[in-house]
Amino acid sequence: MLDLHLQEWLNLGVRWIHVIVGIAWIGTSFYFNWLNNHLRPPGNPESGVDGEVWSVHGGEFYRVVRYEGAPQRMPSKLHWFKWEAYATWISGLSLLFIVYYLGPLGLSVDPTKADLSRWALAAIGIASLAVGWFLYDGLCRSGLVDHPGWFAFVGFALAVAAAWSYSLVLTGRAAYIQTGALIGTIMAANVFRVIIPSQRLTVAAMTRGEVPDPRPGRDAARRSLHNNYLTLPVVFIMVSNHFPSTFGSEWNWALLAAISLVGVLVRHWFNLRGQGRGNMWILPGAVVAMIALAFVTAPRTATLEVTDPVWSVVEARCVPCHSSKPTQPGFSSAPKGITFDTRDQLSARAAVVADLVGSGFMPFANLTGMTGEERALVVAWARGD
Ligand code: HEC
Repeated sequence: MLDLHLQEWLNLGVRWIHVIVGIAWIGTSFYFNWLNNHLRPPGNPESGVDGEVWSVHGGEFYRVVRYEGAPQRMPSKLHWFKWEAYATWISGLSLLFIVYYLGPLGLSVDPTKADLSRWALAAIGIASLAVGWFLYDGLCRSGLVDHPGWFAFVGFALAVAAAWSYSLVLTGRAAYIQTGALIGTIMAANVFRVIIPSQRLTVAAMTRGEVPDPRPGRDAARRSLHNNYLTLPVVFIMVSNHFPSTFGSEWNWALLAAISLVGVLVRHWFNLRGQGRGNMWILPGAVVAMIALAFVTAPRTATLEVTDPVWSVVEARCVPCHSSKPTQPGFSSAPKGITFDTRDQLSARAAVVADLVGSGFMPFANLTGMTGEERALVVAWARGD
């Protein structure tokens, strides 16, 4: 739908913004987390102050204090830290449209799973984000939220179910990004719908000199904690876009679940450490788990000899882009530097070729018009069948 060149530049520009505001959001969130964990009773007791932190940065000294409740006099300027979250969500949603809904359809739609039109794709994508938020929000309002262990278990199971459902109808890569968008939407909506409104109520009550109702604050603190645990998984999912060995694998949803779990555990380790309850097993466990996943997903096929029929398909359908001198209009150099100028170069990448051609991601947007039979031939060869 979008012209490829325009799409490329929109993609670049908006992605740039998305990464920058995302860093600002996660950065402030990490910083406040760190701050809360490092506050110590103030050296000179001050009324209303329950903790202070001294730090040095860029050659300047800083002393940050935390108030127990509101300060006696509200300052004229109070910073809320909300635009980082909103801007991350808005730019992320724009990217979803630019890359997945309006970009080359082959990136998201795999006709062997579901032959979706652009409209159906966008409708499923957006509707599922809304459904995900309402389900999560409902869980947070149910009694389950008082049992953090069970809440985490049910929430994780639902997220895995979402990744699995997406993988049934979309290409692996789109299934991953939709899962990431779902989690990102929950995080941003937590800020917009719960955390900021609760802070507003608290500030308003304190400005009136009343004792604020503690319930909205408790709810906001819980949502903040959920966001805290979701940061590492969501960053992995966004980065996974560039790792076909994750989204392209047959068990892509299970791999997403496993790596996300590692992310949650690492976050847990940081939280425990911040509370002075260090745990010596979690971090080495996470490293071992990542190494194990690398082994489990390693391709089993040995080097394969490229047969003539396979080679002629690849020459016709892949080499126009993947060559040191591409002939495909709009491609001035080999994408990601991957060339199939020789049979050996193809053979060396058989495993990733099996994933990418099998999932319909390559040929890119099927611009070279690969037929179903040709695809089956290449995939069977690449899988070593
Ligand atoms: C129209 C151009 C085009 C054609 C034709 C094409 N590709 Fe690609 N290929 C791309 C682009 C663009 C990327 C980078 C995709 C991305 O990750 O954004 C890519 C990436 C790849 C990668 C690397 C993936 C990674 O991220 O490491 C492999 C492997 C690959 N293609 C294999 C193939 C095979 C096999 C064929 C033929 C069946 C093929 N491509 C046909 C454009 C093309």
